[in-house]
Amino acid sequence: MSLSAAPPRLIAHPVARLEGKVRVPGDKSISHRALMFGSMALGETTVTGLLTGEDVLRTAAAVRALGAQVVEQDGVWRVHGFGVGGGREPADMLDLGNSGTSARLLAGILASHRFTSFMTGDGSLRRRPMQRVMEPLGRMGARFESRAGGRLPLAIVGTDEMVPIEYTLPVASAQVKSAILLAGLNTAGETTVVEPEATRDHTERMLCHFGAEVRVCAGESGRGKRITVVGWPELRARDIVVPGDPSSAAFAVVAACVKPGSDVLVEAVGVNPLRTGLFTTLQEMGADIAFENPREIGGEPVADLHVRGGALKGVDVPPERAPTMIDEYPILAVAAACAEGTTRLLGLAELRAKESDRLASVAAGLAANGVRHEKGADFLIVHGDGKAPAGGGLVETHLDHRIAMSFLVLGLAAREPVAVDDGAPIDTSFPGFAALMNGLGARIEAGS
Ligand code: S3P
Repeated sequence: MSLSAAPPRLIAHPVARLEGKVRVPGDKSISHRALMFGSMALGETTVTGLLTGEDVLRTAAAVRALGAQVVEQDGVWRVHGFGVGGGREPADMLDLGNSGTSARLLAGILASHRFTSFMTGDGSLRRRPMQRVMEPLGRMGARFESRAGGRLPLAIVGTDEMVPIEYTLPVASAQVKSAILLAGLNTAGETTVVEPEATRDHTERMLCHFGAEVRVCAGESGRGKRITVVGWPELRARDIVVPGDPSSAAFAVVAACVKPGSDVLVEAVGVNPLRTGLFTTLQEMGADIAFENPREIGGEPVADLHVRGGALKGVDVPPERAPTMIDEYPILAVAAACAEGTTRLLGLAELRAKESDRLASVAAGLAANGVRHEKGADFLIVHGDGKAPAGGGLVETHLDHRIAMSFLVLGLAAREPVAVDDGAPIDTSFPGFAALMNGLGARIEAGS
C-alpha cells in the first residue's frame, strides 16, 4: 500500500462547440484582500461572492490565527477585525499552502506587528522568491530569517515602530506593492510605492473603501503610478461584493473563442482595466467578445462577457501589457496554438516566479501536444496553423492550477484528448472547474 494517494489525473476530450451561461467563482485577489482588510477594520465586514478556493481559505485561517473572527453562513462571510496593528502573535506556523498572495501580503501585515511569526507553504510556494518583500519591509524595520535564496519557511521579526519609506518596485508586482502599503498602515507618516508599470490596483481601491487615506498619481514614465498611504487610519468595517474572477473566466472565454460555433455568456466578471489584457489580446486576434451590461460592483467595474467562437489569427503581445494579464499567458498560449499564424509573447520573465516556472511548464505542455513553439529566457513564440492542435499529450502541472486548466482547455480543442497529471491544484483558485466547463458542453473527466 502506498503512503500517499496518486495525484488525480484529469483528461479533456475534444468537443464540437460550447454553449451556455455560467458564473465563475469570485476574484481571488479581491477575496484575499477582503478578508485581510476586514481583519484590520473595526466592526463587522461582510463579504459575499468570496472565492472559497484553497488559497483564500489559507488567508482566512491566517487572519483567524491573528485574532480575527471569520465565520461563514449561507454564502455570507462575516469578519470581525482586530484593527490596524491589533493582531496577536500566531500560536503556530502559518501554512499558506500554494498561495503566494497570502504569503506576500501577510508578510506586510506581520512585519508591522511587534511579535515574531513564522510562515511556510507547499512545495511550490517554498520555491517562490520572498526576497522581494523582505527587502522593502526590512528597510522599514522588520527582520527576517529564511531558507537560502529568500525561500520559505520564513521567520518574520516584526516591529510596531516601522519607518515610512518611498520604494520603487524593481519588478512589476501587485503583491509586493500591497505588502508595503499594508505595512504602511501601521507606520507613522506616509509610505509611498512607485511602480514603473501599473499593476492591479485592488489594494488601493479597497483600502479607500475601508476609509484609509490613499493618494494615487500618475508616474513619471506615463505608464506607472505613485501610491501613498497615510499611516494609522481607522479602518471601518464594510460590505464587500466580490466580482467573478477574470483570470478564471479566461478558461471558458478562450475555450469558446477557439471552438467555432460556440456561444457562451460568462456573467458578472470583473473587468478592471488592469486585469483585462487577455481579453484585449484575444480581440486583437479576431475573437468576438462583447462586454455586455457594464456596471460597478463594490468599487470594481464588472460586465457580462458574451463570446462567440470563430477563427483566430496570431499577434504580437507587447511586453508592457504583461502586468494586466500576468496570470493569463498559459491560456493565451493555448489560444495561440489554435490560431492561424505566429503569436509572440514578450516580457515574460516574471512567469518564471509563479506557482511553477510557467514559461517552462507551458513550453513543455505545448511540446507534449505537438504545438510548434520557441522559448527564450523571457519570451514564447507559438506557431499555429489555424487547425486543431494534435493533442494526445500528458502535461505535468507542477502544482500549478493554471497549467492544469489551460491544457485541459487545449484538450477540448485538440484532435486527441489531453491529460494533466494532477488536477488537484485547480481547487486553489477554481473549485468546480470541470463541472462548470462540462455544463457548457466540455468533456473533462477523471483519468487513470
Ligand atoms: C496577485 C498579483 C500577481 C498575480 C497573483 C495575484 C495579487 O502576482 O500573479 O496571482 O493578488 O496581488 P505578482 O504581484 O507577483 O505579479
